[in-house]
Amino acid sequence: MALASFAASLPIAAATAVVRTRAAVVRRAMSSSSSVSAGSQARVGVVQMTSVGDLDANYATCSRLTKEAAAAGVKFLCFPEVFSFIGSKDGESVKIAESLDGPIMQRYCSLANDSSMWLSLGGFQEKGPDDSHQYNTHVLIDDSGKVRSSYRKIHLFDVDVPGNMVYKESRFTTAGDTVVAADSPFGRLGLTVCYDLRFPEIYQCLRFKHQAQVLLVPSAFTKVTGEAHWEILLRARAIETQCYVIAAAQAGKHNEKRESYGDSIIIDPWGVVIARLPDRLSTGFAVADIDLSKVEAVRTKMPISEQRKFDSILKSSSL
Ligand SMILES: *[C@@H]1O[C@H](CO)[C@@H](O)[C@H](O)[C@H]1NC(C)=O
Repeated sequence: MALASFAASLPIAAATAVVRTRAAVVRRAMSSSSSVSAGSQARVGVVQMTSVGDLDANYATCSRLTKEAAAAGVKFLCFPEVFSFIGSKDGESVKIAESLDGPIMQRYCSLANDSSMWLSLGGFQEKGPDDSHQYNTHVLIDDSGKVRSSYRKIHLFDVDVPGNMVYKESRFTTAGDTVVAADSPFGRLGLTVCYDLRFPEIYQCLRFKHQAQVLLVPSAFTKVTGEAHWEILLRARAIETQCYVIAAAQAGKHNEKRESYGDSIIIDPWGVVIARLPDRLSTGFAVADIDLSKVEAVRTKMPISEQRKFDSILKSSSL
């Protein structure tokens, strides 16, 4: 399909959509799950937006959505990759890159503090190891405005997208090399970014080595790859790790060259989609109540953690 003509037929995101979906709550008497306390339910939100090449405009959108989410009872709001800036020219984002204690992130810390909201900010342009490279960093801020954790994207998007353009993220971005999980009132979080989604081993590591319960996948999938693979990959990661998955997505046309697939989504540990916006383009957020006792229920009934034979499979195949 001609991308240009398809794009032209799409309305650009305007309306704010708010969907409230209550996660199906599985409550079973579970004498064995002592790690789960009674207050293990929490309301979380996933943002969909169309970032542009303007730091102030994107901040205004993020700020508005955070306040609306707070009013809707959300305690943890997840933003997509490149939430704060998306460049239209090569090298533009390296120029605006800052450290995590710079003024751009400081503003988001104040926003979290003012709204008493935990924020997942995926895909921030963090100042890199030299002037021509940045890191693509997922930043977790707590409800008092402190940076709790940060993860530098490991898998860079160097891909010739069929029928679209050639992306070479590594030209201006340095890859991270460390898997990051962090504790929060919403469970143990696994931090990843976008293209990481295609590499299941990082999620296996988050689940089986770091005991993650909720996987975060802030993204800016292309329209072509999103249409083909977005939902199926996310649901697969949720099912095979028995984790909640929260995947915030960039949506629609950012500039002349770049368009994102959209479809921000929250998935439960059984692989069921429990929240998404009414369409793939609007700016807004969807809400779900996540319940960590559901994670334990799925894991107790299907104990893949004890049944997996990864080490012996590796051993048997390395002759
Ligand atoms: C958070 O807000 C409080 C009250 O307004 C203020 O005293 C504190 O310094 C703020 N913390 C951060 C990290 O901004």
